[in-house]
Amino acid sequence: MTMRSPARRTHGRAARTAVGMIAAGLVASAALAGSAALAGASSAATMTLRTAADARGKDIGVALDPNRLGETAYRSIADTEFSLVVPENAMKWDATEPTQGTFTYTAGDQVAAYASSTGKELYGHTLVWHSQLPGWVSNLDGAALLAAEKSHITNLVTHFSGAVSSWDVVNEAFNDDGSRRQSIFQTKIGDSWIEQAFTTARAADPTAKLCINDYSTDAINAKSTAIYNLVKDFTARGIPIDCVGFQAHLILGQVPGDLQANLQRFADLGVDVRITELDIRMSTPSDATKLATQAANYASVVTACLAVSRCQGITIWGITDTYSWVPSTFPGQGAALVWDESYSPKPAYAAIVAALGGAPTPTPSVTPTPTASPTAPPASGCSVRYTSTQWNTGFTASITITNTAASPVTGWVLRWAYPSGQTVTQAWSSVTTQSGAIVTAANAAWNPTIAAHGGSVQFGLNGAYSGTNAAPTSFTLNGAACAVL
Ligand code: G3I
Repeated sequence: MTMRSPARRTHGRAARTAVGMIAAGLVASAALAGSAALAGASSAATMTLRTAADARGKDIGVALDPNRLGETAYRSIADTEFSLVVPENAMKWDATEPTQGTFTYTAGDQVAAYASSTGKELYGHTLVWHSQLPGWVSNLDGAALLAAEKSHITNLVTHFSGAVSSWDVVNEAFNDDGSRRQSIFQTKIGDSWIEQAFTTARAADPTAKLCINDYSTDAINAKSTAIYNLVKDFTARGIPIDCVGFQAHLILGQVPGDLQANLQRFADLGVDVRITELDIRMSTPSDATKLATQAANYASVVTACLAVSRCQGITIWGITDTYSWVPSTFPGQGAALVWDESYSPKPAYAAIVAALGGAPTPTPSVTPTPTASPTAPPASGCSVRYTSTQWNTGFTASITITNTAASPVTGWVLRWAYPSGQTVTQAWSSVTTQSGAIVTAANAAWNPTIAAHGGSVQFGLNGAYSGTNAAPTSFTLNGAACAVL
């Protein structure tokens, strides 16, 4: 059966903008669910990665695991922050054709249905890759393997025709020195396996964009030049190829200085380019200095894409560090994504919004009624830890409330005063408002309960200051004073 989606795939800037406008309504309503909202008298001005990227005509994508959509925070962030989804694993060969000729689209269809129901573009990943291949593929000889390659491509592309806008047709076909990777496809079929894949995909869906995707190709180097030469060759010989994906699995402090120039040289060949799997790993644990560097690195990647008109956008390889592929592949490394293990956005979040040219959400001028209906804990039944990292005029604060009482708190409102004129510009995992110096943070819809005997919740905010940025010295939880840690 062919997958037909109401959110038809979009091509080109005009179509992307139309999807963005549809999404604006979703953002306005979803933002109040708490992923990145400074709730005010009006919700219309809430800035998210998506609204900021839409305004620049770029996609902002995320690698999605449909099995996580049942988690409220995961779902809320996916709903609100992104305009494009790519299945992290659900459309790979082992997931879709575990037995030769028997296709299982359950997980891929879940991602497609999610994209359709939330007005997001769907990016297909990946048709032919040497990794995550089912065992039966390794038993095939050259002719049978080529037939299997073509059958796999034809079945997937046909099934998702009308839903997938672009495909990673071939993934990771080259070595770092620019030679062909000696994969089963290369060794048993020969050099033609790549063009056979592209030609077969085009025949199955003449309108989907067809991309080649790889890692360690973000700089101008032997590997990216091999792909550059392949694009030139394909174009000269009339082999279909529309786009090149740059995975950008980066290391802290190592964004290539020639990333923009590299993207531009491919664009100049007449193909689209895209950052397809962005994450920036560091040695763990993270600290404020590393997170500040990471924020600057994320911003650099965004800036490079913005500078290249054929750069379609940026896809981040997951939401929370909890589910990132990095720690299991690189022991001792991690913290590579934009949301931490508590779903709090890191400094990278604000840096991406700023790089996209997003203005902070205005501070509301009137104080709305908090949505929570608090159950006051006993006096002295709470503690608050307030930490912040700052730059010249702004800061990101993380606030943890711990309930030390014997009863759970259901519905919470934390209040404090800023001692040196700070203003909150954005908040997440809470419904936060400010009136003069007084800040009122109430629970979001999904985190109303603080368990008894040491349960805690964490939320965060960005703010602006001038001169000094002194931390608050006292907090009340549902009207009762808390210890300050
Ligand atoms: O689903 C099974 C589960 O049933 C089983 O219990 C478990 C035990 O290990 O494995 C689960 O499958 C894992 C799968 O992710 C889903 O979580 C695989 O072992 C694991 O190898 C697989 O890792 C994926 C990896 O590609 C495979 O090489 C990562 O999630 C995924 O992020 C990663 O993504 C790749 C891109 O596709 C291509 N570029 C590089 C990028 C990072 O490696």
